[in-house]
Amino acid sequence: MTTLSGSARLAGVLGFPVAHSRSPRLHGFWLRRHGIDGAYLPLPVAPDRFAAGVRALADLGFRGANVTIPHKLAGFEVCDVVDASARRAGAVNTLVFRDGAIHGANTDGFGFLESIREQAPGWRPEAGPAVLMGAGGAARAIAAVLLDAGCPRVTLVNRTPAHAEALARTLGGAVDVAAAPPLEGAALLVNTTSLGMAGHAALAIDLAPLPAAAVVADIVYVPLETPLLAAARARGLRAVDGLGMLLHQARPGFEAWFGVAPQVDAELRAFVAHDI
Ligand code: ATR
Repeated sequence: MTTLSGSARLAGVLGFPVAHSRSPRLHGFWLRRHGIDGAYLPLPVAPDRFAAGVRALADLGFRGANVTIPHKLAGFEVCDVVDASARRAGAVNTLVFRDGAIHGANTDGFGFLESIREQAPGWRPEAGPAVLMGAGGAARAIAAVLLDAGCPRVTLVNRTPAHAEALARTLGGAVDVAAAPPLEGAALLVNTTSLGMAGHAALAIDLAPLPAAAVVADIVYVPLETPLLAAARARGLRAVDGLGMLLHQARPGFEAWFGVAPQVDAELRAFVAHDI
């Protein structure tokens, strides 16, 4: 633990519970790597105290905070200013306290795109249609960023079709809903559900119809190699794990709070994934 000065920069992650969060470990690695006079703390706060907690952090001179489950929607409401990424996602995961105002952004979609660019170099959003399994908050952020980056079509496949229909209406335009994943011709398949997570059932999809150039991505990162990703690799397809999204979504917040643009590399990946 670095010794802090009286002018140390402070940030943290608001969640409930927050003990499982890997963000303190991730930001702590970058703080040490860059020798920054600062700290990033786990900040457990119950939903009914969330807004008061955020304002208290701002009053105490914190630079900002990450917002995680179950506060991402409340995070949107507490902001004075939200950027386009937050409006598109309808949720906030990054708060920056600046000039007396609470600014909100959603970097999950950014993190997802950067993770694919890192792990499947050469893939482009324009390459072809994407199929998303799930229709929750992560699906919304990912679908929005794919469409904004030029993906020609996003198809949502969800256990509860009404949730997918509602999300498709919110996103508008090039989004449709299907009962089964239309894999022929798809350039990207993404699991945004908790299926495949340790202790959960696997997402059972036959990947045979996917084109050879397709990329398969998972937002689950425990385990790193989900059954879906293992099946993709067995078929010779490129697979993108969920840890990359976690690492990359953290970059904009760190830069805003601590003034250094951090890098995602193998050393960081190994440090954050040490017990996965
Ligand atoms: P997040 O914000 O992380 O995306 P969420 O909003 O709770 O989390 O969304 C979870 C998604 O995973 C939903 O699409 C959910 O399907 P429903 O809309 O039918 O609830 C999906 N999901 C969760 N558990 C699932 C399961 N056992 N089988 C299929 N889909 C599941």
